[in-house]
Amino acid sequence: MTSNKHSIIIAIDGPAGSGKSTTARLVAQRLGFIYVDTGAMYRAVTLAWLREEKPEIDIFLNNLPDISLSRDSETQEQKTLLDGVDVSNAIRTSEVTEQVSYISSLKKVREKMVSLQRNIGIDHNVVMDGRDIGTAVFPNADVKIFMIADLKKRASRRLEEIQSKGIHQVPSLDELIQQMKDRDAFDSSREIDPLKMADDALLLDTSNLSIEDQATFIIDKVKSIIL
Ligand code: CDP
Repeated sequence: MTSNKHSIIIAIDGPAGSGKSTTARLVAQRLGFIYVDTGAMYRAVTLAWLREEKPEIDIFLNNLPDISLSRDSETQEQKTLLDGVDVSNAIRTSEVTEQVSYISSLKKVREKMVSLQRNIGIDHNVVMDGRDIGTAVFPNADVKIFMIADLKKRASRRLEEIQSKGIHQVPSLDELIQQMKDRDAFDSSREIDPLKMADDALLLDTSNLSIEDQATFIIDKVKSIIL
């Protein structure tokens, strides 16, 4: 007997600092879905490449590291594992941020990560955030959101986040603006699955919205399709 039941997929894409992860986390918490931060997976691959001292790229691609996700048993927060070891904090350094767009533009890296991401969606209701979730990972997602915000606003949000995490090297606002601009340009112009709004995504400009407003907007959309 076949079942019509399928998991519900909420895809949230957009440029750096547009509010994807904070919103996605809250939406997942309220709906009892799993939140998947796909950027963390690409960051973990990048960390492996840096730890191996930047081996020649073909050699690295032929022996990609093992990336997996687990959940904190109390908070359900995602833990990102590299060869079985939790690297959730180590992937947030500026060294990783500087190289992640390059590593994630590589075909073999994307194929491996996309396949892991699709597997999670097979038997879980998920809120997944990234750059290509609505266009490539789940083109049939139930709800697709493309989040944008003013560049300066995105950079100041990121600065606050870095400061609140107590990360040692705190960049200046201007440095962050430049880094985000460069990363967005690279991510949008790469050949494979670039950062791009899906034709059927809803555009959400978060420049003047609160996290609460953003979460409510998405939850209302989800309710309207499942009720
Ligand atoms: O949180 P932030 O906006 O800094 O970025 P992230 O979500 O941690 O993603 C880091 C990088 O991973 C992005 O700049 C992209 O190059 C890449 N990425 C991707 O290519 N595809 C995804 N689905 C998610 C991230």
